[in-house]
Amino acid sequence: MPPEPHLSRRASQATGQPISFLMEQALAHPHLISLAAGFVDQETLPVEAARQALEALWSDPAQARAALQYGTTPGDPALRERLLADLIAADGPTSPIQGLTIEQLVLTAGSNELLHLVADTIFDPGDIVLTTSPSYFVFLGLAKNLGVRSIGVATDDEGLVPEALKDELKRLDAAGELARVKAIYVVSYFDNPRGVTLAAARRPAVVELAKRWSRHGTIYVIDDMAYRELRYAGDDVPSLRSFDESGDTVVAAHTFSKSFSPGLRVGYGLLPKRLVGPVCDQKGNVNFGSPHFNQRLVATMLDQGTFWPHVALLRAEYRVKLAAMLAACEEHLAPLAGVRWLRPEGGLYVWLEMPDHLDAGPGGRLFELAMREKVLYVPGEYSFPGEGRPRRRSTARLSFGVQSCEQIRLGVAALARAIRAAEGGPLTEIPRFDDR
Ligand SMILES: Cc1ncc(COP(=O)(O)O)c(C=O)c1O
Repeated sequence: MPPEPHLSRRASQATGQPISFLMEQALAHPHLISLAAGFVDQETLPVEAARQALEALWSDPAQARAALQYGTTPGDPALRERLLADLIAADGPTSPIQGLTIEQLVLTAGSNELLHLVADTIFDPGDIVLTTSPSYFVFLGLAKNLGVRSIGVATDDEGLVPEALKDELKRLDAAGELARVKAIYVVSYFDNPRGVTLAAARRPAVVELAKRWSRHGTIYVIDDMAYRELRYAGDDVPSLRSFDESGDTVVAAHTFSKSFSPGLRVGYGLLPKRLVGPVCDQKGNVNFGSPHFNQRLVATMLDQGTFWPHVALLRAEYRVKLAAMLAACEEHLAPLAGVRWLRPEGGLYVWLEMPDHLDAGPGGRLFELAMREKVLYVPGEYSFPGEGRPRRRSTARLSFGVQSCEQIRLGVAALARAIRAAEGGPLTEIPRFDDR
């Protein structure tokens, strides 16, 4: 017998992301309607805008050579200048972002790298992150892999409840664990998995609570803004960073993955001053700079003015798809007792809550029945933090990003049949889709 390969403690406790299982299912059963993948619609990817940017970049050999060269650890300065100006514009002239310089803006390979670097920089094993419940499962997995405890805080249809956050901080203080709390993580616009936006009125309170309870060291607010641009109704709300006057509390994570192209892997973070050096030191160990070529491409595309028209196009497309999913829910799920769904104003997801006794988890009856009906969803239970709030097995995340309106309608109808069957009704005998 060959000896067991030695793995670090961190590698041995890594569980992998649950989404891999769902991707395997989708690949193994190509005729499934996947309402699971949180991808953007393949058809909307900006081929023409990317081509124009590439051509411009290529038309100047000096520029092309520069793009093909290494960049710097924090990333292309011209792109960072540009992004900072856009952030200031988004939050308005009174935002404290006004006074910032690009030193605090770091480009990463997607926002996931930023989240990982920040987590690696601020957490020790045994530390605590407070999150919405549910929360983004990739972040929860990342925290777990670092040995960090994630504790869920009560969350309603307006996002994290500040009163509940205060109570949790109080409780941890009384238990002697406040010093372990290093961050509050929120996806503040159209979150993953529920599509909920943290209400404007709650935002100052979240930042203020983090500051007030930073008695043993800073409690950072990690604001994951992956979906800010994807708004289909209502008005934008100011970022959490705009309530951080002193700028030492909020870490703002952004990405071009949802608003432009996930394949480019360009994301960035606006960091408190004191985190910039340590985060860049970590980054230096990993890659001393994310792909420079992609950063130059994004900078050129922004200069050419093709980004916002593309976002407008996405908004128009997804607005229609969201409407199709909500209409399908109304038609097929409303008649089912105890089934409720949220109505997001943006993002890519609709969150489904079913009767408590219904197990929608990956090993549960509904998942199996849904597979038989040829529809795939993300079991909601993946998205619950390790502690704090009950893990609701009777929930599901539906995505309307990838499928056509017709497939969305068929998928929701199939899910309704599966729910009926899971509740004891008959499972349809009629094959609904080609099963080759
Ligand atoms: C809430 C949230 N944050 C971050 C990401 C990571 O995106 P990327 O690394 O592609 O920027 C995603 C991707 O789905 C997401 O849903």
